Amino acid sequence: MSRKPMMAGNWKMQKTHHEALAFVEALPAQTRQEDSVDMVICAPFTALTSLQHAFKGSRLQLGAQNMYFEEAGAYTGEIAPGMLLAAGCSHVIIGHSERREYFQENDVIVNRKVALALKSGLNPILCCGESLSEREAGGFEAKILSQVELGLQGVQMIPSYTERVVIAYEPIWAIGTGKTCDEIEANRILGLIRDHLARLYSQDVANKIRLLYGGSVKPSTIEAQIQMPHIDGALVGGASLEPGSYADLVRLTQQFGL
Ligand code: PGA
Repeated sequence: MSRKPMMAGNWKMQKTHHEALAFVEALPAQTRQEDSVDMVICAPFTALTSLQHAFKGSRLQLGAQNMYFEEAGAYTGEIAPGMLLAAGCSHVIIGHSERREYFQENDVIVNRKVALALKSGLNPILCCGESLSEREAGGFEAKILSQVELGLQGVQMIPSYTERVVIAYEPIWAIGTGKTCDEIEANRILGLIRDHLARLYSQDVANKIRLLYGGSVKPSTIEAQIQMPHIDGALVGGASLEPGSYADLVRLTQQFGL
């Protein structure tokens, strides 16, 4: 079963639109045209339209880091899926642990966002993962599977959705800490998620959905990670901010992940 690898950058609350444009200009031409890896840059809202123009003629795809679960209305400060589509986004990160932790996003909210993203034509990157204390307490696998199940609740996995839904396992203790979850363990968790998707939908659906690992992924870690059978790519924060490092991640994914 071949799944196209994905290298998704999550810039978080970093880069003005000027800095975002400088990033694209500094990317090697070869990276911009790489078509064997889905390259998605999830940028701050204010950089989206600039990147939409800068990505023209390249294979780079644009993502947002959040959206609201209504199509329009009196929701001061929120962003609707239609606005993201108009700004050139194909993807949106949903339920990142920082959203869950600092902005009280629970599984119900995450589920509404996933459902609306799919309905609107955006590809959701649904995030899940345990904290250090949950890992140490044991039994954390059930929490991860429940985040996936509740996040997808009510979603009829029609054939086109299997290529559009992406799930990222990001252990919270590995995010931004430099402590990568080793690839054997990350692969084990992603394997559990795939088995759960097979139970929820079918083995065929589970085989098609892409599963990413996230948490301190760097050029020095990706080679081993991308060779694992269930790791179809990565969601990368810090190491996606520098053009050289992002280009290395794409190149190594292309080299070792196919
Ligand atoms: P990190 O962030 O690569 O800086 O650990 C990953 C993420 O939060 O998506």
